Amino acid sequence: MNEESAEIEQLFSSLLETYGYDFRHYAYESARRRVLQRVQHEDLSSISQLQQLILKDENIADTLLRDLSINVTEMFRDPPFYRELRQQILPHLKQQEHIKIWHAGCATGEEVYSMAIMLTEMGLYSKSQLFATDFNNSVLDKAKHGAFPIQKMRSYVQNYQKSGGDQPFSDYYHANYSAAIMAESLKKNILFSHHNLTIDQPFGDMNMIVCRNVIIYFNRKLQEHVLQLFYDSLGNGGFLCLGSHESLILSHLKNEFEIVSSEYKIYRKLSHSKHG
Ligand SMILES: C[S@@+](CC[C@H](N)C(=O)[O-])C[C@H]1O[C@@H](n2cnc3c(N)ncnc32)[C@H](O)[C@@H]1O
Repeated sequence: MNEESAEIEQLFSSLLETYGYDFRHYAYESARRRVLQRVQHEDLSSISQLQQLILKDENIADTLLRDLSINVTEMFRDPPFYRELRQQILPHLKQQEHIKIWHAGCATGEEVYSMAIMLTEMGLYSKSQLFATDFNNSVLDKAKHGAFPIQKMRSYVQNYQKSGGDQPFSDYYHANYSAAIMAESLKKNILFSHHNLTIDQPFGDMNMIVCRNVIIYFNRKLQEHVLQLFYDSLGNGGFLCLGSHESLILSHLKNEFEIVSSEYKIYRKLSHSKHG
């Protein structure tokens, strides 16, 4: 191990011990780049200096957490994936008495509001409970608030239409100066909560878990841990949706899922249960 990686290891140990955030199993190169950028931004001369600073200053620790957790998202991100959900996957849930869907790593919430819109249009929202979680409290607060920059709505409408939406999109929000505030009717069945995929417990009996563009930042070991958590959280026949660059193919759990769409990374938990 060279000096730099030893310093990064120490920095991550301090983050874990002092604040409970475990980045030790995040994909190394991307995490390293972000740490070095923060060192430069704060005008420090070394990673060790950054480590000393975060021990004393919670604000810097929060900033580093934001750097490392990458919160980019959008509504109806990858519209063909949402079209697939709307046309092929969600209809399977129509027969359920209640529908439970978990958005893990929801960032500022655009994804869960997209789901709420689709469920509303399919007449399924009133019997659905959506759980939207992230380990970054500042993005979670934004998600709860559901206020997005109004100038983004133009591209969100385009995404929505490409995903098969054909209602007036303006029905789903009202404009308030520079913000588009999502409708209360979309929020009422969404529970936003803090959940850390590296250390927290499974959620029970989900019909669907959507976790896209999150495990791509994890190393294999942490990916396996999180996939097991999802396996344990899904009911039989539950769907798991990953991001376009993520997959179950290399996982020890691959035989526990049916591939529903390899193009859109949608999997379904099989009823026989070796690991359950
Ligand atoms: C790139 S965003 C993806 C947002 C959304 N799922 C999407 O695809 O548009 C990744 C999110 O994962 C969250 N995240 C990263 N590590 C996490 C962890 N250990 N537990 C919970 N959330 C985590 C980050 O805070 C961030 O909001």
